Amino acid sequence: MKSREIRQSFLDYFANKGHNIVRSAPVIPADDPTLLFTNAGMNQFKDVFLDKGTRPYVRAADTQKCIRASGKHNDLEDVGRDTYHHTFFEMLGNWSFGDYYKVEAITWAWELLTEVWTLPKERLYATVFHDDDESFQIWQKHTDINPEHIIRFGEKDNFWEMGETGPCGPCSEIHIDLTEDGSGRSLVNVGDYRVIELWNLVFIQYNRQSDGRLEPLPKKHVDTGMGFERVAAVLQGKGSNYDTDVFKPLFDRITEITGVRYGASMDNPLDIAMRVIADHARTLTFALSDGAMPSNEGRGYVLRRILRRALRYSKNLGYNEPILHQLVGTLADSMGDVFPELTKQQDTVRKIIKAEEESFIVTLDRGIEIFNDVIEQVRSASGNTINGKDAFKLYDTYGFPFDLTRLMAADVGFEVDGEGFEHAMQQQKERARTDRKEKQHVEDDGAEWLWFSDVHRSIFSGYDQLGMQAMITGVKHVKGKLLVVLDQTPFYPESGGQVGDRGWIETGSYRLQVTDTIKDGDAIVHVIGAVFDKILDTAITPDDLAIDSNQLSAEASVDRHVRLDTERNHTATHLLHGALRRILGQHVQQKGSFVNAERLRFDFSHFSRLTNAELEEVEAEVNEQIRTSEQVIKHSEVPYDDAIAKGALAFFGDKYADNVRVVEVPGISVELCGGTHVDNIGRIGLFKIISESSVASGVRRIEALTGKTAEKLMWNEYRELQQVRHLLKAKGDESLSERVSELIEAKKELEKQLQDGKLASLLSVLTAALHASPDIGGCRIMTNVVEGVDADILRQAAFALRELLPYAAALLCSVEDGKVSLVSFASDKAVRELGLDAGKLIREAAQSVQGGGGGKPEFATAGGKNPDGIPRALELYAVSVKVALQGMNEQ
Ligand code: SER
Repeated sequence: MKSREIRQSFLDYFANKGHNIVRSAPVIPADDPTLLFTNAGMNQFKDVFLDKGTRPYVRAADTQKCIRASGKHNDLEDVGRDTYHHTFFEMLGNWSFGDYYKVEAITWAWELLTEVWTLPKERLYATVFHDDDESFQIWQKHTDINPEHIIRFGEKDNFWEMGETGPCGPCSEIHIDLTEDGSGRSLVNVGDYRVIELWNLVFIQYNRQSDGRLEPLPKKHVDTGMGFERVAAVLQGKGSNYDTDVFKPLFDRITEITGVRYGASMDNPLDIAMRVIADHARTLTFALSDGAMPSNEGRGYVLRRILRRALRYSKNLGYNEPILHQLVGTLADSMGDVFPELTKQQDTVRKIIKAEEESFIVTLDRGIEIFNDVIEQVRSASGNTINGKDAFKLYDTYGFPFDLTRLMAADVGFEVDGEGFEHAMQQQKERARTDRKEKQHVEDDGAEWLWFSDVHRSIFSGYDQLGMQAMITGVKHVKGKLLVVLDQTPFYPESGGQVGDRGWIETGSYRLQVTDTIKDGDAIVHVIGAVFDKILDTAITPDDLAIDSNQLSAEASVDRHVRLDTERNHTATHLLHGALRRILGQHVQQKGSFVNAERLRFDFSHFSRLTNAELEEVEAEVNEQIRTSEQVIKHSEVPYDDAIAKGALAFFGDKYADNVRVVEVPGISVELCGGTHVDNIGRIGLFKIISESSVASGVRRIEALTGKTAEKLMWNEYRELQQVRHLLKAKGDESLSERVSELIEAKKELEKQLQDGKLASLLSVLTAALHASPDIGGCRIMTNVVEGVDADILRQAAFALRELLPYAAALLCSVEDGKVSLVSFASDKAVRELGLDAGKLIREAAQSVQGGGGGKPEFATAGGKNPDGIPRALELYAVSVKVALQGMNEQ
């Protein structure tokens, strides 16, 4: 069976069992700060398991794109070294949301594996959690598995958890024995490639709390996950996932590029390298197609390290050029039909990967230099071990896998401190974990909801009304704020880059000021920042407000002005998106956006700074569209595939339901969007770009204003210009910039004249002073302090004075803003015949003003910070010159 047939047969099997076939969620989790990457099929249903969200079905199945390269589930270091781990893989899964449970999960899994796919029963093992007798018995009674093949394991192997916190429960896994003689019983769960786990059936019953407690969930669920590449290997009779048709196109392409053939050996360094490159190319291509970008933090950093690891290995193939971007098209060709984003995003993804590869190749060479430096240092300290910190730095900053450092070290007879490396790695993981936990605190604040109803979901009615009667269904006090859930609400909860609404909720006795609105599963949560007691006419702190079941009726009203200004900005981002694509090209794609009442921010893929002409064109086009006053049509509940087929723009990386909302401005823009919008684009009024900048490599950002904020900005600018025009007494048709340039030129000219004047008068004073200065052994020696001149003029004066007399030397000082400048010269003859050295003399003098400097025997300068030391400096200079001249006479 071809792998695509295997995928389809899994989905067909569960569709026949009443499952809704859903799309894979993006590999970048839409709204889960506890995860960097989607690491299991169940992630997109986390809210359902936690009883915060619902779906219009109770059974689902899919193939989910997963990345396991960080956090709790991290297979990165195994990839390449064995033949069945990946950083990216597909997980085939089926789910029951409080519907069927262990019997069906186990018997269907068994049936699909052994009846539909006819895997040999005697080669399969089922593991169960040590005290899960129920599952043990179901295996025994409801399947024809050899009872000897049911094995109990402890928490490490048979209790599945999504992350540090979240849904979890005991699981039952199915393993296959691939040993030649079927003697693999003892190899179950020992990490041996001959007996591998195929399918994990998790019985979700708990929510792991951040303090480690297991809190039982209201309902029991099934969450299964089967490694698609593994099952493909087994069904295609291959010894390794990498030998299947999933990887073949990638290996063929790598061979085409590098000339190296894949030999399918476990230990051959060339085969290891090819596995790493193929696996990592998949991870990067899928992650970037879903909107991720390489960067220096979080998921972007993980991706950057993966890319670097692959490039390191490609050197082992004797290939030193960027390679990964050349595999993007291969993946789009071989998998684009199942994951259309690969095809749609391929140009952008290829460009990003290429740029990243090119910049790393430079870093890599630098890493080799660092490695050599480390070796030198260790050698000069007579050691022969690279310490863990240095090995980790090479790994972390320069992308050197530990193995590579060890191999390179071995080449020069050195060792690497593996324990120290592990320690440094653990420290970094700890830092990352703390980071994640901090992000998690809002979701997991420990406070309890007080519910007045069994229904926790809220209906959003704010697309076409801004005020309504509602019932309070839940409240929670958290960190000086009160959170309120209503059964229905006009308040838009923050999502898709649009901020949450603000406004008021009024009960019989209180006015609650809503400062933000957010989503928590299916509940819409109003964040209350201030409370007014209507009867006592005073403000009370939200902490002191106790809502009871007699006062649940409320009037909810959104702040109309804030909402409308926000809508102007939101609709304007759609127009901007369209204009950018038309003017810059179809590679432009949304990478992020933020919209509030004050401004809009739009991030998009593009590879160079926008010129002023481009910005002007984009802005003009959007304003032109605004003047058409087209209606904005909002289509709710459009099937996702229909919307995409009609060309609606989607934000890659967003999680979309089966039915989506489409916002259309006929002839101008069509986008999938759940946000709120003006009803007619004429209402935007005016669109003004205020900045264009870079956010990351290949991603640009435009910020803009609309409506009266834009108008105000234009007026402020206009007023300033009028003021300038008035000050310059410019005529109506005169160019202001020309006038200002002329003024700047004139100012420069005047400054120059002023300097020249200063120099001339300084020179005349100093010339007289030089002629009047003491003559020591035929040489005029001058020391002088001048006021009100800068170091530059002082220098110029000294240059001119130096040419006046054949035998002369001088030290000149000036002070400006507390800083001392010194200049010293000695005429040519004074240097050659009398042996004076201006550089040496000034160095000594500078010490008295707490400074330093130097120069040549003919001319030297110095600076200092202590003006009080000037008399001493002059004195010292005079004495030193005398000493030098005496020495000369005595010779
Ligand atoms: N969530 C489980 C796993 O990832 C089963 O899908 O293994």
